Amino acid sequence: MSQAVAVREPAQDAAGRRFDRIQQLVEEYGASRSALIPILQKAQEEYRYLPEEILTFIATALDLPPSTVFGVATFYAQFSLEPVGKYVIKVCDGTACHVRKNQALISSLRSRLGLKEGQKTTSDMRYTLEIVSCIGACALAPAVVINDRVYGQMTADKMKAVLDEIERAEAAVGDGKEEQ
Ligand code: FES
Repeated sequence: MSQAVAVREPAQDAAGRRFDRIQQLVEEYGASRSALIPILQKAQEEYRYLPEEILTFIATALDLPPSTVFGVATFYAQFSLEPVGKYVIKVCDGTACHVRKNQALISSLRSRLGLKEGQKTTSDMRYTLEIVSCIGACALAPAVVINDRVYGQMTADKMKAVLDEIERAEAAVGDGKEEQ
């Protein structure tokens, strides 16, 4: 009997290496306020979220008050200040999706992913579950977005099939190998 799901530890890079990468970005984009958003975008691509120490470092490098950098990072929905998984599953909880019983979907997802109350990201950093307001696909309710792909008329069974497919793809890529 084999364990299908490999547990990948989150990367624990040395802080110095992280700062070197940010320093490169600052050199590439220039140490000016107008470079702030592109640098935040690239930093987030690198780490999948914006750790607090990275934001502070960027503020110092661009000679901006940390409050400005934190303000921009929290203002735009594209940025996350919390670690997020490789697959971000957004379940719509707008009216149309709610009426079409998205709650059963959310409960089955939470239990499948083993998420405790208040926990959004799995401990292996593979999945993050977010409950969001209307994503503009009401005709497809209940709707789910996984990374950039929209899935309509989702049921617990269909969701299970999608997650099984992801797990198969991950197993094929191989343990410990990270796709960009
Ligand atoms: S309410 Fe869910 S997509 Fe609009």
